[in-house]
Amino acid sequence: MCGIVGYIGHRDAQSIILKGLQRLEYRGYDSAGIALFDGKNINITKTKGKVSDLDNKINNLKFRGSQIGIGHTRWATHGIPNDVNSHPHCSNSGEIVLIHNGIIENYAAIKTELINRGYSFKSETDTEVLVNLIEDIQKSGNYMLGKAVQIALNQVVGAYAIAVFDTKKPNEIIVAKLGSPLAIGVGKDEFFIASDASPFIEYTNNAVYLEDEEMAIIRLHKEARYRKIKSDTLFDPYIQKLKLNIEQIEKGGYDHFMLKEIFEQPKAIVDTYRGRLSVNQGLIKMAGVEDYIEKFLSAEKITVVACGTSWHAGLVGEYIFETLARIPVEVEYASEFRYRDPIITKKDIVIAISQSGETADTLAAIKLAKKHGAFVFGICNVVGSSISRETDAGAYTHAGPEIGVASTKAFTTQITLLTIIALRLAKAKGTISQTNYKKYLVELENIPSKIEKVLEANPGVEKIAKIYKDASNFLYLGRGFNFPVALEGALKLKEISYIHAEGYPAAEMKHGPIALIDENMPIVVIATKYGHYEKIVSNIQEIKSRKGKVICIVTEGDTQVKEIADHVIEVPLSSELLSPLLTTIPMQLLSYYIAVLLDKNVDQPRNLAKSVTVE
Ligand code: AGP
Ligand code: GLU
Repeated sequence: MCGIVGYIGHRDAQSIILKGLQRLEYRGYDSAGIALFDGKNINITKTKGKVSDLDNKINNLKFRGSQIGIGHTRWATHGIPNDVNSHPHCSNSGEIVLIHNGIIENYAAIKTELINRGYSFKSETDTEVLVNLIEDIQKSGNYMLGKAVQIALNQVVGAYAIAVFDTKKPNEIIVAKLGSPLAIGVGKDEFFIASDASPFIEYTNNAVYLEDEEMAIIRLHKEARYRKIKSDTLFDPYIQKLKLNIEQIEKGGYDHFMLKEIFEQPKAIVDTYRGRLSVNQGLIKMAGVEDYIEKFLSAEKITVVACGTSWHAGLVGEYIFETLARIPVEVEYASEFRYRDPIITKKDIVIAISQSGETADTLAAIKLAKKHGAFVFGICNVVGSSISRETDAGAYTHAGPEIGVASTKAFTTQITLLTIIALRLAKAKGTISQTNYKKYLVELENIPSKIEKVLEANPGVEKIAKIYKDASNFLYLGRGFNFPVALEGALKLKEISYIHAEGYPAAEMKHGPIALIDENMPIVVIATKYGHYEKIVSNIQEIKSRKGKVICIVTEGDTQVKEIADHVIEVPLSSELLSPLLTTIPMQLLSYYIAVLLDKNVDQPRNLAKSVTVE
């Protein structure tokens, strides 16, 4: 995964890079490093740990004043997180310096070849192999750095976003991309390089997003030159005007990004349906769907491909699509789909869901689906991301930047978008009555204010978190539309508190997990009105008979569950179909408070990264 940042221009590179790395820490945070060149000396500082550790180390060394530099925050793939394996990596001569996000799959063969040619290696990384390959090519052919990089990249297999410079020619940085994202911020007489635009948004809103197999030679006081790596042709890039602003990527008074993002959900949902839903006119309008409406209506099957939380949103989508539009839906883990021989035809629609739009498995699944001739529709949050570009059509969730590694507002906005699409198709197919159609439109419009109400119940959730924070296992149960919410609740708890948790369809409990229940087992049960209420009440009775501790999410005014549960958290009344948008919120809050009480790193849980751009 990793975050990369680079700068060349007239400002102090060190502070720009360190601040930029902090913003990119969601991409990886097991070690960090920076290379700065002051015109004479190259200073490389690396450390295991976070960007703050790097900041402490480098501030003691005082390298301010450099106007060219590159930095990296790592999520290790090859070699444990330690100082030596951290990036930047240098070539054997010490002249070429490189940072890398991705994996060089054929690094072992290249390494053996380089060792035979006299090269030695300090680290266990694939990245150090690449930098030495570039040096070897440069030296043997007496090439300029850009050419040597291009030749090297034609020899490697895998994924990369790289930034490289040569200390002998320090007014130039070479960048290249395949698989991993790379944005170039174009300022006045200065360039920024980063994995996403957040490190440079306060300096420029002009950005070039490199496509796969593209590279750029960025030179101080000159225009950048853009080149296709394979065909060796020059091209003029599309300079995008970004709308992101700096407030959107800061914490705004909250203790953590995750809490901020939980509380942003009412607004994020409004932003997602704004302009697409007209309750008065009874209309749904989404360009990405309208333009391909015939394709959607004639689809024999919809396959959703996604990972993690986005996969859970896909599962909710399955219930919604099948109920409303009567189109069969399959939901697949992208990582499995890409390595099977899936039955996908030209008549199928594949919906790829991804917050980041960069998840490698999802991207590969899209490519496979396209190969089979399917029409691929993307649901992404990050504008301009790889998945949004790779899909045939799509729609953005407009949740705004999600920085906390645990996904929250992305999930509820993905469900919102899936509901809108399903309603549009149901209307066109005539699988929904006019009354129900209207009812859902009105209800969807009212969901944000209902979420506000759930958020007000926040202190109650914190109290429950205090009681159960030391439990070593949790069970999460739900049925129907709320079964995927139970999976999502369990994932949230695992991710940020490291407590083992499992989500199950409530009725499945009796086929195995019931054996786990005793007086030490907290069980979160979604028991809202409608749907399978009576059945769930019986499931709760079964748990209580085995002394389990029951925390129930119920509809306001519920009395029956209140009688038997140990704790209840109320959510406003809604139809079963839209209830996941409400029942998810207490789950997010519960895991948040438990993690805070356990003093865990909520926004950057161990071993994880926000966008998983490796397999
Ligand atoms: C969510 O809390 C996780 N951190 C993770 O499961 C995530 O949803 C998954 O990696 C998919 O990411 P994407 O939506 O950016 O593709
Ligand atoms: N493969 C490189 C390493 O292990 C980069 C890792 C990544 O981008 O996740 O250091």
